[in-house]
Formats: sequence, structure tokens, C-alpha cells
Amino acid sequence: MDSKIIDGIGLSRQVKSEVSDSVKRLKMETGRSPGLSVVLVGDDPASAIYVRNKQRGADEVGILGETISMPKTATENEVIRVVNELNSDPNCDGILVQLPLPEHIDEGRVTLSIDPLKDVDGLHPFNSGLLAAGKPRFVPATPGGIVQMLVRTGNDPMGRHVVVLGRSNIVGRPLSNLLSLKGKGGNATVTVCHSQTKNIEELCRSAEILIAAIGIPEYVTSDMVSDGVVAIDVGINRVSAPDRKRGYKLVGDIDFLSVSQKASAITPVPGGVGPMTIAMLLSNTLLAARLH
Ligand code: GUN
Repeated sequence: MDSKIIDGIGLSRQVKSEVSDSVKRLKMETGRSPGLSVVLVGDDPASAIYVRNKQRGADEVGILGETISMPKTATENEVIRVVNELNSDPNCDGILVQLPLPEHIDEGRVTLSIDPLKDVDGLHPFNSGLLAAGKPRFVPATPGGIVQMLVRTGNDPMGRHVVVLGRSNIVGRPLSNLLSLKGKGGNATVTVCHSQTKNIEELCRSAEILIAAIGIPEYVTSDMVSDGVVAIDVGINRVSAPDRKRGYKLVGDIDFLSVSQKASAITPVPGGVGPMTIAMLLSNTLLAARLH
């Protein structure tokens, strides 16, 4: 693999191997393995794939994973009832409710119902508040994975200008908090751009590290980046590709072919941020088991 292409699969194997060693140690000390419960509501095909990958990751590292599938007609109260049962289940250390939920369900209310000590997604306001206050406990998996990728490839964000495209609760906002924390993996100067940002292209060109998480296929083009940029692509977009067997292909938020000509390091899609997200979820589940 071209050395400028950041190998998310290889890095995720490193993290999973560390988690697997710690799971074995925990089992020797306590006699039990960590448990991760994933709640999947509805039949969104992309969500089903993500959940299956999470379950596979758990199996690989010795975490007891279970997927609870609910129909898309499930009510908000029914989902919350399932979460409450998991909250009081001593074999469940971590709970993840896969997003997005069907439109008739308020994601905020469901997230609030999760025990903050089992919130391995780090999305409960208690945990996002701890991160914003500079005392992180469960860091959302995608931002956590991105920081690990940067540090483990020698692209420490310390003192560098990082531009984050997107301000979502899952990626952009927690990532900007994480990168500006004091300490290893932090200490960056962070600019968060969003739909109301005026001079977005100019800001992107001033980035030493550019992280795209806006959900627009191949939005970042080579004229928007400077030579030597480290480009991290969080996007996973399905675009039509009649020549492919499935009829679609996956592309990121960055135009890989053109931006890779100028970047010093770049993540591919797929095989970049995605696998690291799963590895960090497993790492959070291990942390949850230690807290119980
Ligand atoms: N859907 C896409 N990414 C995520 C994530 O990180 N957590 C949850 N719960 N759902 C998602």
C-alpha cells in the first residue's frame, strides 16, 4: 500500500489486538467477559451492515456481543423499555442504539435513557458534557478513532491547525472538543466549519489536517487543500455506479484521486476511518466493563 494512504484496517487490528489482550486479563481477574448490546431498529441496509461489523469485531476480541433487532414500527417507549432492561442487566456493560432511528422516534430521548456508565457511544449528555469540560470518559468512537489514527501514524495534532468540516453530535462537535484538549492527541488549534461558514474553501486551504464529516460525496477537491495536508475522510456515501454489480459504490466526502496528489497522508473509503470506529467502540466497552 502507498505509504501516504493511511491503513485503517491495519491500525484497527493493532487496537483490537490491544483490546483483546486486556479482555483476556480482565477475564482472568474477574472471571467474566465484557458484554456489548447493540439495538437496531428498522431495516436500513447500511445500518444493518454497520451493526453486523460491530458484532464481528466484538467476537474477534472476546467481547460478548448481542444484537437486539426491533421492527421499524417499534414505538419510542418500546425502544426505551429495551434500553431500561439492558441498564439493569448485570451481563451488559455497554449499550449502543444504532442511529439513525426511524423518524417517529426522538433520538435525544432514547439517548437520555441509556445509563451513562454503559454509554459506550459517548453520546449521552453526561458523557458529552464530561468531554466538553475536559474530563473525557466515553469518547464517541469515530472521533476517538481519528485521534488514534493521527497519533499512530506520526501526525500528532499538537500545535497544528485542524479544520473539521461538520458539526454533528456524533463526529464534528466531539472531535473538535477532543482535538483541543490538553494532552496527548490534543493541543490542536481547531476550526469547525458548517453550512453557514462563509470562506470555507480558504479555511480548508489553511488546514494542516483536514477532517471531512459533512456527508456530501467528494465535496473536498484538490483546489481546496494545501500541499502536504493530512486528509481524513469520515464520509461513507453510496453513489450510483451502473458498471458495478451492486449498482452503487462507496465514496467519501473527499475526492480521493485529486486530493491524494497533494496530501502527505490520506484515508481511503472504505478501509480508513470505518474500521477504527469499530475498534474504539470495543475499547470503550472494555472501559465500561472495568467501571462496573
Ligand atoms: N450511526 C452512524 N455512526 C454511529 C455511531 O457512531 N453510533 C451510533 N449509535 N449510530 C451510528
